[in-house]
Amino acid sequence: ALIDKGNHRHFMQKEIFEQPVVVAQTLQSYIRSVEQKVSLPQMDFELSSIDRVTIIACGTASYVGMIGKYWIEQLARVPVEVDVASEYRYRDPVLAPGMLGVVVSQSGETADTLAALRHMKAGGVTTAGIINVPTSSMAREVDLLLPTHAGPEIGVASTKAFTCQLAVMAALAVNLARAKGKLTAQEESEIVRHLIEAPAAINEALGHDAEIEAMAHTIAQARDVLYLGRGPDYALALEGALKLKEISYIHAEGYAAGEMKHGPIALIDEAVPIIVIAPSGPLFEKTVSNMQEVRARGGKVVLISDAQGLAEAGEGCLATIEMPKVHPLIAPLVYAVPVQLLAYHVAVAKGTDVDQPRNLAKSVTVE
Ligand code: G6P
Repeated sequence: ALIDKGNHRHFMQKEIFEQPVVVAQTLQSYIRSVEQKVSLPQMDFELSSIDRVTIIACGTASYVGMIGKYWIEQLARVPVEVDVASEYRYRDPVLAPGMLGVVVSQSGETADTLAALRHMKAGGVTTAGIINVPTSSMAREVDLLLPTHAGPEIGVASTKAFTCQLAVMAALAVNLARAKGKLTAQEESEIVRHLIEAPAAINEALGHDAEIEAMAHTIAQARDVLYLGRGPDYALALEGALKLKEISYIHAEGYAAGEMKHGPIALIDEAVPIIVIAPSGPLFEKTVSNMQEVRARGGKVVLISDAQGLAEAGEGCLATIEMPKVHPLIAPLVYAVPVQLLAYHVAVAKGTDVDQPRNLAKSVTVE
């Protein structure tokens, strides 16, 4: 089929707006809705024998790994390490039996990730791959292929592949949790219910496009932008900063909200917008107190939260973006949307080449 932009100005915009459909498509192949279960494709090893997980990826896909660490450790109580592929092999990692090596890659061809996969396989490690291109090298070489069904992603900055990778990571975490005896059937059916709600929640998040576009003009004036989050939202802060850097060329940093006072707070003045990603929940108060530290130093905050969070802490912010109230497991899939849209609209406001940013390639096949 012909790949075109449809009514969209850029592939990136089209791909952001495709997310409700492609995430639903991806979830569909992992959810058995009648049984209220999350399933994985047939595998020739026992998930129950896995006692350690290592997740390896590059760029945006590596943040899926960070979020996967939270999910797998919380649900399955199996320890997880995450590393960027270009670092992994060179630290002579400990490869042990009982370990599952997971690579995450849109293209399935990223040289560093492929090399890390081969390194793990050579060490006798069982491997799985969350991969979008089913004919790719990684897809052919992993023991267990966990496909994303995002369809072709043309924009260099990854968007829909990211949320689809998260959906599959959630499915992996749930299956591992069940195999380890850490999840009751009732808990699993609860999770299924929340996962099924994800596409509608993503759609609701997309409904804030015009608002985000309006605020993008202010952000586009900035020289530096800081993104803060805690827990899985720390990974989203890193993703937000990466997206903004790669397509708008504005310097941005993602920081763990609580770590900011150990350095980056020195950067804060009226000229530095701070994007705070904080759904209401157990981590909210802590993140908000970090946000107040920034505000006390003149920082201009954009708070991304749900109605409850915004009612508690939205006052005095430069802007707020309201997300639907969602279960923590699907929150990263939903909060990814405003982060993507903000980078997109800032780049458009700056007039950069959104789909083909300078110096970057869609698939990096050199180490
Ligand atoms: C490139 C792209 C990024 C992507 C990374 C990993 O640098 O510009 O958007 O996250 O490669 O790509 P992969 O295909 O392995 O997911």
